[in-house]
Amino acid sequence: MNTPTDSPKRRVRVEVNGTPIVREVECRKHLIDFLREDCGMKGSHLGCEHGVCGACTVRLDGQIVRGCLVLAAQADGHRVDTVETSTPSKRLKALQDAFVEHNALQCGYCTPGMLMAALELVEQKPDADRTQVREWMSGNYCRCTGYHAIVDAVCAVLEQQRAGRFADEPVASADEVRA
Ligand code: FES
Ligand code: FES
Repeated sequence: MNTPTDSPKRRVRVEVNGTPIVREVECRKHLIDFLREDCGMKGSHLGCEHGVCGACTVRLDGQIVRGCLVLAAQADGHRVDTVETSTPSKRLKALQDAFVEHNALQCGYCTPGMLMAALELVEQKPDADRTQVREWMSGNYCRCTGYHAIVDAVCAVLEQQRAGRFADEPVASADEVRA
């Protein structure tokens, strides 16, 4: 029977929030564990470990993924962005502020994943209505707030965007991020 020390390792180079990080990791290690344990970035949370709750949502080359379903080795040579980036985009900052303003978090456990999912929505679905926001965010579970406040916060940022608040901050497509 294999033990953890028998697990093969490989060297990975990942750009995390703009910083190149090189680590030797077990091939079986998931991206969320790599971020938390090897990179010291505890902002992204681990909930169900089965791709259900969305607490581990991060961006891989500009697209949201479940960090518990992607291997760190698969991120080799790619870019990962988490909620704790030191240089949040205006949209991410606006979402963070809106979550506070609308009381959209209590324990905050789901919040990192919620914010990353909401950020992609604001960037990719600028005309989303409340029903579409609910549907988009339905892949992220919150045990505290009952969702209304979260939807309020996301809708508020969509309104700000439609009013031109982020006009000077273009949305990079996933392809552009990869280039
Ligand atoms: S921990 Fe990844 S989806 Fe729940
Ligand atoms: S704020 Fe507690 S789980 Fe969502």
